[in-house]
Amino acid sequence: MNNNKKRPVILDGDPGHDDAIAWVLAAASDELDIKAMVSVAGNQTIEKTTYNGRRIAALLHLKDVPFAMGREKPLLGNLEVAANFHGVSGLDGPALPEPDHPLSELSSVELMAKVLRESEEKVTIISTGTQTNVAALLLAYPELKDKIELISIMGGGLRNGNWTCGAEFNILNDPEAAWIEFNSGVPLQMCGLDVTERALVYPSDWERIRELNNPVAKVVAEWFDFFFIHVSSLGWKGATLHDPCAVMSLIHPEIFTIKDAYVQIETQGQYCRGATVADFREISDAKPNCRVVLDLDREKFVDYLVEACAKYEGWVI
Ligand code: BDR
Ligand code: CA
Repeated sequence: MNNNKKRPVILDGDPGHDDAIAWVLAAASDELDIKAMVSVAGNQTIEKTTYNGRRIAALLHLKDVPFAMGREKPLLGNLEVAANFHGVSGLDGPALPEPDHPLSELSSVELMAKVLRESEEKVTIISTGTQTNVAALLLAYPELKDKIELISIMGGGLRNGNWTCGAEFNILNDPEAAWIEFNSGVPLQMCGLDVTERALVYPSDWERIRELNNPVAKVVAEWFDFFFIHVSSLGWKGATLHDPCAVMSLIHPEIFTIKDAYVQIETQGQYCRGATVADFREISDAKPNCRVVLDLDREKFVDYLVEACAKYEGWVI
């Protein structure tokens, strides 16, 4: 893969099947240069998401990319895990290779700060779990804000939530962290449920991935098999591929509908803690703080996903 003009990125997530597929997509992209990977507690405990992340790194041959363990709990409040979607391990399903390089001695925040400090170019953070690592980074190293090109988030939703009627899982798990981020002045792009629940991948779509018959594609197809067990029990006809939207909207923005808006995070509220509230009123004088991703061309999304999985032809694990 050619290194010219790649966008430097940090992957921050709680893998998790859809985080894992997002990282497969990022590692396959000719446009992204992964500088660091960090875990966060969310879909499972921090020990489990870290182990899963390190196994994904081994699967994707990301031996040269430092991996740091992230925050074990939200800034305030209690962590809720999503074992119903992702299993006891947080990434149940196919066997994965064991981690092949040591965990960084730095914390997630220190590692992200190091990458930002040492990079000549601004760096994009792709954050697909709670926003706890990012908020801790912004609080600890405010002088590094200018080194952040963009934070591409999977989180929130303007129409509805998925964990409560008002809140999406990642934001609900740490609304205060999201509040710090949305009020930081750092450029943000938010893939909420508005778009991610339309990023539906049907069983016939992931059969195309399985048929590629390379080792990574086979694992991805089996991740879909597992993830869809719970998702289909909720009535969905396809797998809701949330986290890959945060990657795909960077590398193929042309297939998404994106609108600038002023977005705030509800941290109080009897029913709406963790809700993301956008102001699209034309009369509003609130300055947009976020690019909100609202819709996508689903078929192109699937085609690009299949194309990314095809890049692992001849892979050895
Ligand atoms: C989000 O919650 C997690 O379970 C997924 O990995 C995704 O990041 C969707 O609400
Ligand atoms: Ca996630």
